[in-house]
Amino acid sequence: MKEEIPIRPFWYSDAWIFPKLITVITTMDKDGRVNAAPYSHIMQYDVMAKTPQMMMGFRQDSHTFKNIKATGEFVINCPSSEYLEDLMETARFYPEGVNELEHTRFTTIPSRYVKPPSIEQAPQIMECTVDRIVELDKSSGIVYADIKAIIMDEGLEKMSRAERIPAMNLPIGLGDQDRFEYFYARPSDIVSFGLKETPRGIQAESIDPTMQWDKDSMEGLMQIPPMVREMVMTQVETYAKGKGAEEVTMTHMSELMAEFGMDEALMARFGGPKKD
Ligand SMILES: Cc1cc2nc3c(=O)[nH]c(=O)nc-3n(C[C@H](O)[C@H](O)[C@H](O)COP(=O)(O)O)c2cc1C
Repeated sequence: MKEEIPIRPFWYSDAWIFPKLITVITTMDKDGRVNAAPYSHIMQYDVMAKTPQMMMGFRQDSHTFKNIKATGEFVINCPSSEYLEDLMETARFYPEGVNELEHTRFTTIPSRYVKPPSIEQAPQIMECTVDRIVELDKSSGIVYADIKAIIMDEGLEKMSRAERIPAMNLPIGLGDQDRFEYFYARPSDIVSFGLKETPRGIQAESIDPTMQWDKDSMEGLMQIPPMVREMVMTQVETYAKGKGAEEVTMTHMSELMAEFGMDEALMARFGGPKKD
């Protein structure tokens, strides 16, 4: 049996279990005073663009949101599970102007492109600047931000995901009970599954060009991993049409892919699905 749950403000917190990335965002106010607080309403946004963005949601009267609005800069720090107690300390309602980090074991290092400092104990850090802010009526402030830098502990990037997950030991946020008791999981039981290739027959049917493609460009298209092939096909056709072309050529493909920053190195990162 299933039951319907009422949709209320904070539905995601009340009943649903909604695992999330846990961060501590550092900001500065106009007078240069540091602020830090945990935030988990955070998502990658526009990931295929050359300048990918982040999107996050804040209580509009939080110090963090006010500082971001005033200065346009912030740092997303992801501390490991060993620092959950310190992270919770930064969630306390200290008065404006208090640097929560001073009540924790966290120490700071200068950021490279923005004024707010970064947290030394965070294995992954992102420096951001505001692109735009949407202030929802009587609700959250949504910030869309450009990623200025991705900073990681040395050596992590070179590790495989299987090695990096335990090395970073990032907590997974599991929500709160009554806005008081916060739950987390630590990554101790990691599983992975290989993505299998779409059955051959279905794959051939799924490519349905609306334009003529010359031989080279069609061969190029078929080199593209199946999971992004259709999207690339549509984008290349739109681009070629925009150039007034009747036939897609390799030039259209290379120009568009360069525009999106989709060079060979990027395509190689899609790897390939496992054969059946
Ligand atoms: C794990 C965790 C995640 C949180 N995520 C958010 C969030 O995404 N958005 C939000 O507005 N508040 C969130 N909060 C609450 C703020 O951290 C809290 O209100 C804090 O006191 C705000 O501090 P500030 O006023 O210095 O920004 C979260 C708290 C915790 C403990």
